[in-house]
Amino acid sequence: MLSVEGLTIAADGVELVHDVSFAIAPGERVGLIGESGSGKSLTALSLMGLLPEGVTASGTARLRDRDLVGVPESRMKDLRGSELAMVFQEPMTALNPLMRVSTQVAEVMTLHGVPRDKARARAAELLGPVRLPRPEQVARAYPHQLSGGQRQRVMLAIALANGPGLLICDEPTTALDVTVQKQMLDLIAEVAPALLFITHDLAVVASVCERVLVMYGGRVVESGPIREVFTRPRHRYTEGLLAASRLTPRGTRLPTIAGSVPAAGTFPGGCEFRNRCPHADTTCEQPPALTGEGHAHACWHPADRG
Ligand SMILES: Nc1ncnc2c1ncn2[C@@H]1O[C@H](COP(=O)(O)OP(=O)(O)OP(=O)(O)O)[C@@H](O)[C@H]1O
Ligand SMILES: [Mg+2]
Repeated sequence: MLSVEGLTIAADGVELVHDVSFAIAPGERVGLIGESGSGKSLTALSLMGLLPEGVTASGTARLRDRDLVGVPESRMKDLRGSELAMVFQEPMTALNPLMRVSTQVAEVMTLHGVPRDKARARAAELLGPVRLPRPEQVARAYPHQLSGGQRQRVMLAIALANGPGLLICDEPTTALDVTVQKQMLDLIAEVAPALLFITHDLAVVASVCERVLVMYGGRVVESGPIREVFTRPRHRYTEGLLAASRLTPRGTRLPTIAGSVPAAGTFPGGCEFRNRCPHADTTCEQPPALTGEGHAHACWHPADRG
């Protein structure tokens, strides 16, 4: 479905994402995790052709047989919302506060060639599958009249309106309370044709995805089936992330990863994690390659748990 190779993203001569490669099969749900600033959102935005001004991408990304990187904006406009779609964290900023929900759902269909009257008629229909109770009423509402969870469902309905092959979600449920979050995650897992799911939350990724990519310093440092990566992490960064997220009994110290993520352009080079890694030595001054079939890691001194 999606195949990304050598994706590199830079701003003002500083590389922010380096040589990222991965693939997503039809129907597959892939999580993208990593601390703040690891390059998750830039990776997603580059696939959508939505990188901020001054930020450029190179490498290749193909969805079905269509190129997504280095494609003129006029072409990306056609692909966005039809071939691939994205749901963002804060639906209030993505929805137009002055337009009724039905108009906004219909608009994304008319943009992609569905006649206006037909799009209007289908708008309420599209709200059913995202489990909005009383879809007719929601369709007539303005965004501020809906709850956060309802708005996020509307965004999902808009994203799915033209039957895209790939859905990208960037922290889609962080703003929702826990019970609503769970329902939304179940819904996303059910309706996504193929999914790239970005989150900080390891429990969330484990509940939604089958496979996971771990990013650090703009690189994929580990990838593989969730169960494998979460029970037998190889990269020392993944190991640290998992240890830091584990619930500890009251009174015991939560292990954390030493130091903090360096600013873009100030990573140490070689293994980008080496200045925070308890196992680093001079070998780690050389960049490790991502190796391994299925469960891959880029670490000179991987955790070995047989
Ligand atoms: N428009 C920009 N210009 C320059 N640098 C940027 C720009 N946008 C992001 N960056 C830098 O690129 C790096 C990756 O950013 P990105 O937003 O992809 O991180 P992220 O993994 O999504 O983090 P978070 O979990 O906080 O959302 C960061 O160091 C960030 O400061
Ligand atoms: Mg982000």
